[in-house]
Amino acid sequence: MSTSEPIGLPEPPEIGASALPEGTFDGVTVFVTGGGTGLGRAIATEFGRLGADLVVASRKPEHLEQATEALGDLGGGLLTTQCDIREPDQIAAAFDAAVERFGLPGVLVNNAAANFPVPAEDMSPNAWRTVVDITLNGTFFCAREFARRHLAAGTPGSIVNVGASYAWTGGPGFAHSAAAKAGVKNMVETLAVEWGPYGIQVNGLVPGLFPHEDMTADIKGNLARTSDKDVCQPALRVGRLRELGWAATFLASPYARFISGHTLVVDGANWQRRTLTNPPVVTVRDQMGKGPFELG
Ligand code: HXC
Ligand code: NAP
Repeated sequence: MSTSEPIGLPEPPEIGASALPEGTFDGVTVFVTGGGTGLGRAIATEFGRLGADLVVASRKPEHLEQATEALGDLGGGLLTTQCDIREPDQIAAAFDAAVERFGLPGVLVNNAAANFPVPAEDMSPNAWRTVVDITLNGTFFCAREFARRHLAAGTPGSIVNVGASYAWTGGPGFAHSAAAKAGVKNMVETLAVEWGPYGIQVNGLVPGLFPHEDMTADIKGNLARTSDKDVCQPALRVGRLRELGWAATFLASPYARFISGHTLVVDGANWQRRTLTNPPVVTVRDQMGKGPFELG
């Protein structure tokens, strides 16, 4: 075998491993939006394994049940609470429930988001509004609720906002989500400065491609157009869910207190990928198998 043969980035340690000491989050409550599915659940799992009490907030009862199944036996306590993050009153009620059960959460993971692929010219105003409302406004409303309670109590805290790399690059086919995630990334930088003096650390965490069974049909359909996702990544593999969980727990841990206003990308360098010469341009319509645009 030649030494220059591509081998990709190595696989991570097995599920259950952790770089942080056991009990790192003992006595800490971690509030995870959208923690019943996919990446949110994977992140919540790693906090739970390290001793955290977990609060999972999202809209759909079936997702809250999934959280109970997956997170109920990790050692710490678990509260699931129905909440639409577009509604500040519902967020306040979810925090009230968390405080009553465990005390004020010390960590907020703003993971919930909304997204579907659609050519910009086909996007209805309400489709744009919905994605921006959940992904950008909802993230701010949760961060605001968390910070106001900590400022009033005089206690420190840590916020991790889950983003996406098209915050920097733009995201053809995802104009709404890319713009919203750009706002989320920018918000990290602002809030870290505003709330640092009060002991609140604010960071971003950007996943690369982390396929999972809970992905919406729209997103799965989009990914299905690529026959082998691994060879499309410089790492020659996609992300393993636990790798994102480890990054989130590190960012919110006592070992990362001086890291604030930072957005950590966990994607095997995929977002920096360029080719020596560009492949031919394929319109978003063609990529999605849509016919010509027609007014109407
Ligand atoms: C075009 C669409 C659409 C689609 C919905 N809409 N789906 N338009 N293409 N596929 C439009 C609707 O027609 C409507 O506009 C508006 O969006 C609101 O739709 P509702 O169904 O009424 O909204 P709601 O019930 O609030 O649901 C929100 C949702 C839904 C975003 C539409 O998909 C959802 O609940 N998603 C949550 C989970 C999620 O999105 N996860 C993805 C995260 S992954 P009109 O004009 O008809 O009223 C991610 C990065 C992945 O962010 C990157 C992978 C590479
Ligand atoms: P997912 O499984 O679809 O998760 C989205 C979660 O958000 C769901 O649990 C959903 O729960 C919740 N949610 C949506 N709207 C909500 C609302 N209005 N109020 C409260 N909760 C709401 O997707 P995922 O892949 O795990 O994505 C998680 C995060 O990673 C998102 O921020 C996403 O943008 C980011 N991301 C993912 C990838 C990837 O490859 N998977 C890549 C880049 C970025 P309910 O339906 O119960 O409300």
